[in-house]
This record gives sequence, structure tokens and C-alpha cells, in this order.
Amino acid sequence: MSVRPYAGNGKVTVPDIVSRKSRLLSQLPESRITCVTAYDYPTARLLDQAGVDILLVGDSLGMVVLGYDSTLPVTVEDMIHHTRAVSRGTRRALVVADMPYGSFHVSLEESVRNAVRLVKEGGAEAVKVEGGERRIELIARLVQAEIPVMGHVGLTPQSLNALGGFQVQGKTTDAARQVERDARAVEAAGAFAVVLESMPRELAARITEKLLIPTIGIGAGPDCDGQVLVFHDLVGFATEHKPKFVRAYLDISTEISRAVAQYCEDVRSGRFPSDAESYHSATEVRERLSARQPTESR
Ligand code: KIV
Repeated sequence: MSVRPYAGNGKVTVPDIVSRKSRLLSQLPESRITCVTAYDYPTARLLDQAGVDILLVGDSLGMVVLGYDSTLPVTVEDMIHHTRAVSRGTRRALVVADMPYGSFHVSLEESVRNAVRLVKEGGAEAVKVEGGERRIELIARLVQAEIPVMGHVGLTPQSLNALGGFQVQGKTTDAARQVERDARAVEAAGAFAVVLESMPRELAARITEKLLIPTIGIGAGPDCDGQVLVFHDLVGFATEHKPKFVRAYLDISTEISRAVAQYCEDVRSGRFPSDAESYHSATEVRERLSARQPTESR
């Protein structure tokens, strides 16, 4: 496992992320926080080397990697397994692991135990918890246990059954007030940053202006202190419906399909592997092998 650089040596830390807010308030837009989801070692390495600030091992893992219909089946074991791989590939970025559905809903003790596992066994440097006002006590307990917490309000995919679907949140005055109360509650409880998901741009801008901690938007417009995208959406590796807020910077699905179809054609036609792609016996070995042995009958 690679040794991560210590703070002050280029490593992105929680205090560094918090300090971006004051730099942004002083009109330094290049301080905007970049966050991308990651679930495996090679992707984490690439994203880290590309300079992404935060690698989020999101429970979107369930949908984009494991093929579930929602994030609800993802387990703590799944999260630890993938967080470990991401940690191994990361030197500079801050690694944040999602607390999956069910891991913080039974009791505070069990929730802290699960978060500690993500840190100790997975190598996470912070955890993300979905929910606002309802999570005040939990966030405070995790912070007391030295676990930095990223909040997540607005559309919280783990509330799928309660919400009845993935819809934009905070569209009415009352709903907007609730989202704002949720964001403030998360901050008051001690979260170091908060994800604002799927809400009108104006509401996200208002929350960003009011909070002292950075906001990281997804489907929340350009006025947040940072942005997060699911890696598979960013590179066009997602097969399902593409939400309005997704910008695919690459069409990797087409590239993969083209490459694999070409490989199959080359194997079938005998063009792969070529002689240059093959190992060769030494001349001496070849000669000895083809020389007839005295005991050989033919
Ligand atoms: O699970 C996830 O990937 C997330 C991001 C979309 C914020 O929660």
C-alpha cells in the first residue's frame, strides 16, 4: 500500500476542504472543490493523479457497479471492500465513504461502530451520512468519535421508498425551507461539508451563502462551493437514464464496445495474437525439440 503524503505535503485534508470556504468567500473561484465517486483501485489512481480533491466511495456503487435498482441493498461489507481498494489507489485526495442504508438507522452505538469500521478497515478519512435534521445526534456522535462527517441533503437516494422516487427537492416554499433547515442542522451538528443534491439552483445558492461549511452540489447548479459527479456518468459508462445535470466528458461505453468487438473479430480471424505478441523458444531449444529422439517410434 502506498504511503499517503502527510498534511502540508499536497495531501487534501478535512481542514483544507473547510478552508476552501473562506478562500471562495474571498473570490478565489479556483478554490472550488472537485469531487468524483470512485469504487476501485485503478480508477482511484487515475482520479487522484488527475487532481480530484475528494474521492467519494458513494453507495451509488450499488447501482453503477453492482447492478442493483437502488442504493438500498448496499452493505457495510460492500462499502469496506470498495473503500479499501480506493484507499490503496489514493495518495493526495481525501477519501470519503458513504454510510449505506441500514448502517446508521438502528442505534447510535451501532452507527458509530459501522463508521469506525469504514475508517479502520476501509481507510476512509471521513464518512457521508444522508439526511438533515434527523441526523443531528448521529453526526455529533461521529464527530465526537473523531470521524469527520460530510452531510447530504435535498434528494437523498436512501429515502427512495419514503419519497416515492428520485425527484428534485425543495421546489415549493415549504419544501425549500425544509431543505435549508436540514443543511443548517447538518452544519450545526459538526459536519465539515454538505452535499446538496437535486434542488433548484437558487435554493442551493442561498444555502451556500448562508452556511460556513462548503456545499458540494450535484444537480444543484453552479453556485455551490464544489461539485460532485458519479464517475460512470462523467465518462459515459452509465447505461441507465441520464439526469439533466450530468455532463458526460467521454463516451467510454462506445469506446469499450468498439474495442471488444474488434478483439472478438481479431481472435476469430486469427489476427490476434500476432507473432510479435507471442513468446518464442530459443533456436537451440527449437532444434532439440524437432530433432528425432532415438526412442521415438515416429
Ligand atoms: O452515492 C453517491 O454517489 C452519492 C453522490 C451522488 C453524492 O451520494
